[in-house]
Amino acid sequence: TYVVTDNCIKCKFTDCVEVCPVDCFYEGENMLVIHPDECIDCGVCVPECPAEAIFPDSDPAAEPQWLRLNRDYADQWPNITCKKEPMPDADALNGLPGKLADFST
Ligand code: SF4
Ligand code: F3S
Repeated sequence: TYVVTDNCIKCKFTDCVEVCPVDCFYEGENMLVIHPDECIDCGVCVPECPAEAIFPDSDPAAEPQWLRLNRDYADQWPNITCKKEPMPDADALNGLPGKLADFST
């Protein structure tokens, strides 16, 4: 599976959802996640993300905590299939460290 990681938080550009052939993104208040049982590992979402927040689970950047978070919330959050406006400070916050502290459901 592919995994959404911390730099999505408070950016949520949503370019990823437009290209996913199986519509396996789910939307929380300030982050998206990928459902690990639905992702078909095509990889097309990776270059679409302006925050470079998506990694295959084989990549060290996709730490186990992120895979867990994607799995947990994909079951709870609503599906998202259409691009929407990024969050208000998306460009300013793109790349800042420690965004997990700002994660909200
Ligand atoms: Fe969707 Fe492919 Fe990205 Fe998986 S890797 S989330 S199937 S676009
Ligand atoms: Fe998040 Fe990147 Fe998609 S910032 S919403 S994973 S395009």
